[in-house]
Amino acid sequence: MVRMSLLWLVLISLFLVSCKKDKLAYTYSPTPYNLEIPEGFPQMPMNPDNPITKEGVELGKKLYYDVRLSDGGPQAGNSCATCHIQSKSFADNSPGVSVLPHVNLGWGTKHWLWNGSKQGTLEDIMMFEVEEFFQVDVSRLKEDTSYKRMFYEAFGTEEITSKEVAYALAQFVRTLISGNSKYDKYKRGEINLTESEKRGMAIFFSERGDCFHCHVPPLFTDFDMHNIGLDSMPSDPEDWGLFAVTGDSADIGKFRTPTLRNVAVTGPYMHDGRFKTLDEVIDFYSEGVKNSPTLDPIMNHNGGIHLNLTPQEKEDLKAFLLTLTDESFLNDPKHRPQAN
Ligand code: HEC
Ligand code: HEC
Repeated sequence: MVRMSLLWLVLISLFLVSCKKDKLAYTYSPTPYNLEIPEGFPQMPMNPDNPITKEGVELGKKLYYDVRLSDGGPQAGNSCATCHIQSKSFADNSPGVSVLPHVNLGWGTKHWLWNGSKQGTLEDIMMFEVEEFFQVDVSRLKEDTSYKRMFYEAFGTEEITSKEVAYALAQFVRTLISGNSKYDKYKRGEINLTESEKRGMAIFFSERGDCFHCHVPPLFTDFDMHNIGLDSMPSDPEDWGLFAVTGDSADIGKFRTPTLRNVAVTGPYMHDGRFKTLDEVIDFYSEGVKNSPTLDPIMNHNGGIHLNLTPQEKEDLKAFLLTLTDESFLNDPKHRPQAN
């Protein structure tokens, strides 16, 4: 009799221990992530379908840097971070490709990619990246027990699909906020700008340069489509822009305005990387703009399409663009996997 109950006691305690272990391994009680929105920035639009949590951001970060995400797919060997490099504002300087930076994308709500071929929320563009660009094979992620745990902690499911992968990546990318450049510190009254930077700022924000109509502060983009006159009649479909997507001749040469935040490190410039330096970009806006029926009306300045800046004005404008570099963002350890 004593023997019997001892056996039961052992069995029951074994059962309890195994239950407890199971529970500890998989709890789903995600912690809301507190996004720090820089002073003067609008509220970031959130997707009610994908609330941002610490667990989701951690998972998204691990996926972003993990080359296994591309195993067996067309991007095999690459992680997101292969082309989206933190010190380059999550863009890349390789010649011949123009990688769009991952900075302040949480505010993007309409056109995605250079030619605007994708529309919708950040989650929508991430679904494209995961399902079409990388063609992520989720069964490979399931083989990793730490992923099983992390997906459960972030989304409360053991059924990993491309949706959870894309949503976690979107959560991480929402945290890639840059708003601490020299320009921001000046706006907050913490530092002063040089005389040259101030003159450049005046060109940027006045009819002299007219840059701010499309590169709208504080994001320095309007996320909209414009033809700035790089080509008059582009023959290469790569240069057709939105026209390649809609087939509407009114869209010839229209591209998505890129942000100018950290523009010092995101070259080569334009959708095809045709300009290596900011000097070349400024020369283009000054005397290289080509006219065409779809040239954006904003590019017409008092009847002329060329700004004809003086050498001094060009230097000043460049000096201002360089104030948009945010060293704390480019070096923030929170945006890369922790060594543990
Ligand atoms: C081989 C290089 C490469 C890799 C790897 C890569 N990207 Fe990109 N990414 C690019 C290029 C180039 C563009 C611009 C392409 C275009 O607009 O046509 C881009 C654009 C984007 C954009 C659009 C940004 C905007 O402002 O519209 C998003 C979002 C994005 N990538 C996410 C990702 C994610 C997530 C991963 C990993 C799953 C990834 N990328 C991996 C090269 C890469
Ligand atoms: C009508 C809207 C518009 C105006 C005005 C405008 N831009 Fe742009 N800017 C764009 C678009 C769109 C692109 C991308 C074009 C492409 O790649 O085909 C761009 C690209 C750039 C780039 C390259 C960024 C990169 O990451 O490749 C820089 C730098 C730039 N503009 C600076 C300026 C400056 C300086 C001015 C004022 C002199 C200015 N822009 C005026 C819309 C505009």
